[in-house]
Amino acid sequence: MNQDQKNNMSSSSLFSSKSSDLSGEIIIPGDKSISHRCIILSSLAIGESKITGLLNSFDVNCTINSMRSLGSCIDLNSSDECIINGIGIGSLKQSETPLDFGNSGTAARLILGLVSTYPIETHFIGDESLSQRPMKRVIEPLVDFGANFKLRDSEFLPIEVKGAEYPIPITHEMKVASAQVKSAIMLAGLNTPGITTIIEKEKTRDHTETLFKYYGYEIHIEEKDGMNFISFEGQKALNPVNIKVPGDPSSAAYPVVAGLICKDSNIKIRSVLLNPTRDGIYKCLDEMGANITYSNKKNEAGEITYDIEVSSSILNPIDVPANRAPSMIDDYPVLAIAASMANGTSIFRGLSELKVKESDRLLGIYNILSKNGIDTIIEDNNLIIRGNAEGPKGGALIETNLDHRIAMSSIILGMVSDEPIKVDDTETIKTSFPDFIELMKKLGAKLSA
Ligand code: S3P
Repeated sequence: MNQDQKNNMSSSSLFSSKSSDLSGEIIIPGDKSISHRCIILSSLAIGESKITGLLNSFDVNCTINSMRSLGSCIDLNSSDECIINGIGIGSLKQSETPLDFGNSGTAARLILGLVSTYPIETHFIGDESLSQRPMKRVIEPLVDFGANFKLRDSEFLPIEVKGAEYPIPITHEMKVASAQVKSAIMLAGLNTPGITTIIEKEKTRDHTETLFKYYGYEIHIEEKDGMNFISFEGQKALNPVNIKVPGDPSSAAYPVVAGLICKDSNIKIRSVLLNPTRDGIYKCLDEMGANITYSNKKNEAGEITYDIEVSSSILNPIDVPANRAPSMIDDYPVLAIAASMANGTSIFRGLSELKVKESDRLLGIYNILSKNGIDTIIEDNNLIIRGNAEGPKGGALIETNLDHRIAMSSIILGMVSDEPIKVDDTETIKTSFPDFIELMKKLGAKLSA
């Protein structure tokens, strides 16, 4: 480790060492995407909603604080339960302070959509990572509703929004496969008279659509000529709900992959959301020959959940097609760890969107693997990983660049490496999975300060 690297080690740095015999039954925290959306929709319903199983993380707290500043009454009763007294569509007030979105792209983009059809002015700020992420993709359709925006360098946070006083409904054909952009448009459409329509070429996670229905809001969804048409009329009412947020499949993927690649392991995870717009990584792991079983199918919050059981597996390499990206966009870093332990060469295709996540994740994955002795190539927007079931050499310091998924994936790789892997900052994991380290230790992971 050189001096620069030592300076980069924060008080939350961690060593991850070779682990085996992982075992136990765990519950994974609530789904992040659904938690953000439940806070927003409950705030817009008329009356009292109760949310249980909420993900209480830094990212979701940004949404809670922002919705409070915009007039919603939100009581966090316990770590994962909250009561919201919704104020109704059309009733948001102007925030007296800037809204701080920390590290959360989802919170920022969804609420940009929300405020764009109210006659209020809002100032959006975020951390260093969020302030480097592209925002034009979400602003462009929102301008068509009649809102005005001032962005730094026409692309980035901080952003000043002057919402439309008389919003007009739009029909928008999606240019990027992004559930955040789609959901921003849907939230803008809620306070807009007339019909808002969105046309998706590639289907993205559909939690906003499912939740509209769950809150009793009429929405029309139709697949035609290989495209997905979503339309609804604005300025109707959302009903308050009692809702239980299902377990996050992207968070579950870390203990799942650990259980597959560490020797003599068996892990059971209860009530994990498995929706066709989110299950790409599970499809991939099944195709790689992973020992995974799915049981106890249930319906929660309008979504399907399963209990998942995994045990140590011999993994085959995989060729992941580009069209699978929307259903596993957050899960490539941890799939890359599984691929590095497969018997042969894997290729992940069409990864351009990974470059605009919390960090440049294509480069981030490359760094985790190559610095720890795994032969990895980036070619165009494809990633080629030469796996070795014996496990890598390890020993590197990984700089996580404010990216929780890079931090968690590096920790999982350390658990099969000859020498411990050092992760510079684990604080960022609190954006999505606050108890990750405790939970992994409980399963038997050797993690130390
Ligand atoms: C999310 C959508 C995805 C995903 C993000 C959560 C959402 O982003 O990466 O973590 O909740 O809508 P994009 O819309 O940029 O693909």
